[in-house]
Amino acid sequence: MYDSGVGGLSVLRHLWRLLPRETVLYVADSGRAPYGGRPPEEIVAFGVQIATFLRGEGAQVLVVACNTSSSVALPEVARAFGGPVVGMLEPAARAVAERWPRGGSVAVLATATTVASGAYPRAIAGQAPAVDVVQEACPEWVPLVEAGRLDGPGVDEAVARHVAPLLEPPGVDGLVLGCTHYPFLEPVIRRVMGRLGRSGETPALLDPGLAVAEEAARVAAAFVTRRPEDRGGRLPAHEDEPCTKGSSGPCGVDRFFTSGSPERFAELFQRLVGAAHEACGREWGGV
Ligand code: SIN
Repeated sequence: MYDSGVGGLSVLRHLWRLLPRETVLYVADSGRAPYGGRPPEEIVAFGVQIATFLRGEGAQVLVVACNTSSSVALPEVARAFGGPVVGMLEPAARAVAERWPRGGSVAVLATATTVASGAYPRAIAGQAPAVDVVQEACPEWVPLVEAGRLDGPGVDEAVARHVAPLLEPPGVDGLVLGCTHYPFLEPVIRRVMGRLGRSGETPALLDPGLAVAEEAARVAAAFVTRRPEDRGGRLPAHEDEPCTKGSSGPCGVDRFFTSGSPERFAELFQRLVGAAHEACGREWGGV
């Protein structure tokens, strides 16, 4: 799995529950984040490099847990990986179709590069043609999350700047979080909507992370071959037992790689998803 930084952890936290015993290799390209204002050629080159690296490390399925990369680089990344690849947009569009089966209107909040690619409106038109789509680029949001600024001075303003216009009548039925960093701002987005929403009515928030993790779990079930050596030679002897702390079966291992500071990554990991990781009892394979 890879992302421009820590955003993909918002997908990984769902994958832990769905694939409790699999080893996950995660690349956080924080040294080159954000991707969202970069030209597509550069994002393609980064994705090809990371996919090649992960394949070399033994990855059998690749999850592109970055909407910007999924929007502009998926075919090239899939070619470089040479195996099954799951991107963000098709599962996200499916989730929109399931949520608004009779049509409606959504705003996709995403990076400038994702918005410019037009990939979200295309994907949603393919699966939910009766849903109208507007897009809003939120360039300040990824740097806020990468800096660990999830609340406090300046954050409400940065969120309100992009959310307020979408609440103006006639408004939209839903906001799609079209960047994997944005779910970590969800409490602020909800608070801002509550403060600015007219007559208490606010759009629904849709985080595609769960739909992407479900798709990844389906693909993994079809393609991943179990290798005891991935778990330090221990056989997965208790396949049917739930993988929770205290259970005797081996839980999955998570290994992280970053082009940024490993200490900084470990610190942000703890803040963003540390409790969820602890609760599901997975092994920390290091950064
Ligand atoms: C970014 O690094 O700007 C974006 C990550 C994403 O689009 O999910």
